[in-house]
Amino acid sequence: MENAFSVKQIQAGYCMSYILESDKQAVIIDPHITKVQAYRDHIKAENLTLKAVIDTHTHADHLSSAGIVSSEYGCPVFMSANAVSSMGIRKVSAGDTISFGQAALAVTPAPGHTDDSIALTGGGAVFTGDVLLIGAVGRTDFQNGSPEDMFDTLARLKELPDETAVYPAHDYNDQTSSTIGRQKENNPYMIETDRDAFCANARSKTLDKPFNMDAIIRANREGSAREIEHISVSEARRRLDSPDESWTILDVRRPEEYQALRIEQSQNIPLDSLSSRLNEVVGSDQQLILSCLSGARASMAAGILAAAGAGRVTVMTGAIKAWIKENAPVIREKVPVSLERQVRAIAGSLVLLGSLLGLLVSAWFFAIPIFVGSGLLFAGVSNTCMMGMLLMKVPYNRKALQRNAPVGGTCSLDGGGGGRCAM
Ligand SMILES: [Fe+2]
Repeated sequence: MENAFSVKQIQAGYCMSYILESDKQAVIIDPHITKVQAYRDHIKAENLTLKAVIDTHTHADHLSSAGIVSSEYGCPVFMSANAVSSMGIRKVSAGDTISFGQAALAVTPAPGHTDDSIALTGGGAVFTGDVLLIGAVGRTDFQNGSPEDMFDTLARLKELPDETAVYPAHDYNDQTSSTIGRQKENNPYMIETDRDAFCANARSKTLDKPFNMDAIIRANREGSAREIEHISVSEARRRLDSPDESWTILDVRRPEEYQALRIEQSQNIPLDSLSSRLNEVVGSDQQLILSCLSGARASMAAGILAAAGAGRVTVMTGAIKAWIKENAPVIREKVPVSLERQVRAIAGSLVLLGSLLGLLVSAWFFAIPIFVGSGLLFAGVSNTCMMGMLLMKVPYNRKALQRNAPVGGTCSLDGGGGGRCAM
């Protein structure tokens, strides 16, 4: 098929980057600072020649590795003609194409999120950057973003065939791709046909700015972000033992994971609260070795810390699993089962028991799963878990609370934090 290419999506937290390949030639779209080794590994494994790196816009929420990747492979960085950069980028405008192998991507200006956003179409797909996301769109409140431009860009994207695959630069809900047809049906911003209403809605949003946004933009314009160093367990131990260096292990697992198994003298800030606790680690002289269970969360934390301007940030390859494999010392502690797990286990057991008794004994027993289901629904809607509150009165949990164990007070899992690219 003409202009066909394969798409490999590489995720870094909420950020998506892509390696497209045709005839052993490749391009990378929106390369992330924490994924340089992943790009390297894929290019080597597939024996690819990298022809180009493309940033769909100047990212404000994370560091791009376009500068690192392009200099390593000696290929150009393509960005919008509106992009401000001192990297020696190749600027592209409407009608330009970026070729690799037998394939080509057509460039369409797509202002709205920023004034330097582009969309790339080809091979039955569109790479939408932060303009069209899955079920959402990019925010329009900084970097010369504009709700009016966003509305007009979305109108142009709606003209693509319904079956066109949509690959965004972000997703905050574990989705990986969609189609123009599905977005026209389900995405409220694509459904809206009144330009004034669309713009009023976009302007009504109050969103936190990404932490350290100005420094991130500056680094992305200069291509000055440095690759995040990955070190082995033995190198981590050497640095920790060195009297001339001052390194700390920062473990970004959940508190209950950390409490159960940890490296002595390590510090714990869970990944999901790192953005709001940056003051504890950024701006100090600390040199950080990031760890988690196997390395994935540590890598994401490294991206957040590097973007926040932390000094020396390294990731321990294989994290605490590799640490244990090397027979390095750890502290193990028996921790209480979290309240959330208890609720899940009890609710599941009641539903199963009620359903079985309903089938085998009397239909009246179906009242149990109905009651439990209603309770869980109420807990989800009101963020108040009655079962969790009752369980907190049980002596086992009372003791855990007295010991300040992280059993939590509701069934909710806190997510979020500000600074995202979506509206
Ligand atoms: Fe963005």
